[in-house]
Order: sequence, then C-alpha cells, then structure tokens
Amino acid sequence: MRHTLKAQQFDAKLISVLFKRADELQALSIDKRRHQKLGGLLQGKMMFLVFFEPSTRTRISFAAAGQHLGMQVVSTENAQISSSLVKGESLEDTIQVLSEYQPDVIVMRHFEANAAERAAAVSGVPIINAGDGAGQHPTQALLDLYTIYREAGSMTGLNIALGTDLLHSRALRSLIYLLAKVGGNHLILVSPKELRLASDVKTYLKKRGTTFEETDKLEYALKKADVIYWNRIQKERFTGEIPPQTFVIGPQHLPLIKPEAFIMNALPRIDEILTTVDKDPRAAYFRQAGNGMFIRMALLEWTLELL
Ligand code: NCD
Repeated sequence: MRHTLKAQQFDAKLISVLFKRADELQALSIDKRRHQKLGGLLQGKMMFLVFFEPSTRTRISFAAAGQHLGMQVVSTENAQISSSLVKGESLEDTIQVLSEYQPDVIVMRHFEANAAERAAAVSGVPIINAGDGAGQHPTQALLDLYTIYREAGSMTGLNIALGTDLLHSRALRSLIYLLAKVGGNHLILVSPKELRLASDVKTYLKKRGTTFEETDKLEYALKKADVIYWNRIQKERFTGEIPPQTFVIGPQHLPLIKPEAFIMNALPRIDEILTTVDKDPRAAYFRQAGNGMFIRMALLEWTLELL
C-alpha cells in the first residue's frame, strides 16, 4: 500500500514524477475546456479526511484537490472533540472502523507524533499523514520543495535559510529531511538557542552529506540566502513559557535580500513576517499555498496507483 508517512520516504525519481504531474495538472486546471477532463481522473474514488487538530490549508486543499479530480470526499474537522476519541476510543479502533466503510484513502492529522505510522499499521487503505503532532508533515514538505522548484527553477545549488522554531515545527522538520534526501543545497538554520534543530535531524543531514550552519544572525542569513523559509513559533507545542518572536522579517530587510531570492512560509503567518512584506514580488507564501493543491492532486493519483 502506498502510504505517505514521512518526508524521507520520497526519492529523487518519485519527486520528479510528482512535480511533473503537478505541473501538468496546474496547466490543465487553467484551461477551462480541459478542466472537464480533470473531473474524470479520480471519479468513483472516495477520500476520508480525519483531522484531530486545527487546519485551514491542508484540509481544504486536500478536499478541493479530490473534488476537482472527481472524488467523493467525506471530511471531519475537530475530530478531537467530535469523534469517539472523546469517549475513549483508540486511534487504532477508529482507523479500523473507517477502513470498513471502503474509502480509497484516509488523510489524517493528529496531535501525537507517530500517529500516522500507528494508523498505517492497522489500516486497510493507504494513509496520508497530514501532520502528526511535532512529528512530520510530509505533504507540506512536498509542496514546499515543489515551490522551490517552481520559483528557483532548480532544487539544488541553493543556500536555504530556515527559521524560526526549528525544534517544534513539523513543517520545517519534514522539509529538512526532504532537502537532505535531494541533496546539493546548503542550509542556514536560524533560531534562538532554545529552539534549535533536534539532533536526530542533524545526524540525518550529516549522514546524507548536506552541509548546514546554525546562526542567530538574521541579517547575515537573509543576505546569503537564495531561499528564505520562515515559520512561526509553534506555541501549541510548549508546556512552559513561550518565547517572544525575535526573528521578524520586515520591510527594512528587503534591500538585504537577493533580487532573485524568495520568501516562503508554511502559513499560518503570525508575527514572523510583517504584512508590509507581502507586496514585494519575492514574497512567495501565498503562491506556495496554491501549489499545495496541485501537489496533493498528484499525490492522490500516486496513492491510488494511477501514477
Ligand atoms: C503547518 C502545520 O500545521 O504544521 N500548517 C500548515 O499545514 N500549512 C505549519 C504551522 O502550523 O505553522
């Protein structure tokens, strides 16, 4: 079964197949006459979306991706308060029951790391991990790398600055794993000392030969970067005090950033990038979110063994 559980399961060959297909689907969706063709691609297939944590982009873009391709979509939000979890049902039982209703794929977001792996172990259908606690968010990593490929025209030879909560952000964690898998880039890791990247990911980078440096010098990183990937402090992952955001990108930084560089953010954006940056053509975060739907379309086709 073609589960999507963690970013490092994807190799360069599959990534290139998915990106080419996402490009094709994006082109198809622009052309209104050919748009009707899209609706037949996954007709008769059914997707369940089960979200135990808040989401805007991931849930809606998966639902939209499925509907554009002709799938039937059954979706639950707030499953942490609206599902039988509240009565004490285990994740394993929930997934086994959902499998009985014969979906073709279950897309799941959960508040615990490794939840997707646990679900896959008992599921009768493919599981797509749409974020598991502070663990991973592999479909975000795919859409992020796809955005780098579209904006930079390449996936290698780049200085990529990544901030700001490297310890807790599952989006950053997954992207870093994927970048290590692809290879050929240099990473500039920007965070306060207490939010540095966990050692397991650093070990993986070293093993795969991807070079990186850790710094708390924002201006240095912005000047050197070809890609700037800037996420919020993940306040829901703290048990103690939440540190204030000290790495804020504002209009005063724009002259420092290379003309051909671009700024990404998994979103939601809180206070790490000021809204006055949005008008700059190098602000790529809304285009990035848009790319998410097309890469998820391609991923659904792959999951259903049609790619
Ligand atoms: C990310 C997440 O949920 O991990 N959001 C998303 O899916 N775009 C990033 C975040 O919440 O900061």
